Amino acid sequence: MAHLLSILTSASLAIVFASLPAGAQASRAAERGHAYASAHCADCHVVEQGVPTPANNTAPSFSAIAATRGMTSMAINAWFVSNHRNMPNFIIPERDREDLLAWFAVLREGHKQADNPH
Ligand code: HEC
Repeated sequence: MAHLLSILTSASLAIVFASLPAGAQASRAAERGHAYASAHCADCHVVEQGVPTPANNTAPSFSAIAATRGMTSMAINAWFVSNHRNMPNFIIPERDREDLLAWFAVLREGHKQADNPH
């Protein structure tokens, strides 16, 4: 059910998406990625912005992942399509992967701003 809902949400967002200027599209993608993460990843990961990994958690928070050196979009994308020992091997549709990467990019930007306030 949650999955069906997320498909429906993506479909309706896609319509909005098509009618927005380029700048707004990136954040729409990030919003969809955030929604996808909340639906599919939040059982194990904290997916919200600016939250460090909770002490009792084995899965790193998404903000912590975004802040990890070397965790570029390419590295995260590679993670999506590889096998994991402690995490289920999801099949994430390519569109949703792009949305997730957009969300990670937002988290990464937030981290940079927190790091150097210029
Ligand atoms: C059942 C629990 C679980 C779910 C659900 C889950 N993960 Fe994970 N994830 C983990 C664990 C545990 C790790 C720690 C790495 C390991 O040991 O495999 C991890 C690691 C990761 C990493 C790599 C972190 C690093 O620094 O190497 C990424 C990226 C990631 N998860 C993304 C996701 C995304 C995106 C989703 C949702 C589509 C998701 N995960 C859903 C448990 C989960």
